[in-house]
Amino acid sequence: MNGEQTMEATIAAYRGMAMEASQSREQAALSVRDLSVSFDGFKAVDGVSLDIEHGELRVVIGPNGAGKTTLLDMICGKTRPSSGSVQLDGVELTRLSDFEIVRRGVGRKFQNPSVYEDLTVEENLEISIPQGRGPIACLLFKRDDSVRSRIREVAQEIFLEQHLSRRAGALSHGQKQWLEIGMLLMQKPRLLLLDEPVAGMSPGEREKTAELLKKIAKGRAIVVIEHDMDFVRSIAHKVTVLHQGRLLAEGPAEVVQADPRVIEVYLGH
Ligand SMILES: Nc1ncnc2c1ncn2[C@@H]1O[C@H](COP(=O)(O)OP(=O)(O)O)[C@@H](O)[C@H]1O
Ligand SMILES: [Mg+2]
Repeated sequence: MNGEQTMEATIAAYRGMAMEASQSREQAALSVRDLSVSFDGFKAVDGVSLDIEHGELRVVIGPNGAGKTTLLDMICGKTRPSSGSVQLDGVELTRLSDFEIVRRGVGRKFQNPSVYEDLTVEENLEISIPQGRGPIACLLFKRDDSVRSRIREVAQEIFLEQHLSRRAGALSHGQKQWLEIGMLLMQKPRLLLLDEPVAGMSPGEREKTAELLKKIAKGRAIVVIEHDMDFVRSIAHKVTVLHQGRLLAEGPAEVVQADPRVIEVYLGH
């Protein structure tokens, strides 16, 4: 092989790599297939499939008891599905423990904010850095500059840079919700699952949360469960509607909202 051929081969190889990279980016980050779970014979989630892209912000809506929370529970490993598959970037999650799923880059926020009330905002963020250490060991650890700058960066994103030394217990309900999102961001998740993150927030806080979610969706996939349709319209790329454990509709917020089946479910007749 002469020099020219080598060069051509190298270029071809690079092209191939670039193509592979772009193809894998286009592939769904999260792929849920035919997922079901029964509780004592009652199907809480019944054959749900969905694909969520990298950089996508998906909102899941549906009446109470539709199976929204249970769906997130199965994605993050809290509840084991009866059947079906959940893949994150091609890795099957349903056989992994919840701890391993976190390590694979899945961050889950439950409905009620769970922050360490007696620790400061800064300490809450610091102990969320994934190092496999408990809170006490973490606090004894020396903070280096990279840790400090990461904490500052996240605190700024979640509108709490002025509150770093405040006790988390003294924050407003909305600020606690933001702090919990920040604690998840410290782990740089590839997939964020947020269950009703704006519940109990003021209109101003909701607006800021919409801004926050849109910003952090860049480069990762986010699934948000939400009821408030104004909020849903302001953030959703696509909306998935669940009803009685099944997927009822999926598409842009305006389209889904105008769907007679969705209207019927919400009006209850
Ligand atoms: N651990 C459980 N045991 C028994 N039933 C459950 C359990 N978790 C959820 N369910 C039932 O599954 C259905 C879906 O619940 P859930 O996922 O919390 O709905 P949503 O979040 O959409 O309001 C409900 O009827 C609920 O009572
Ligand atoms: Mg729920």
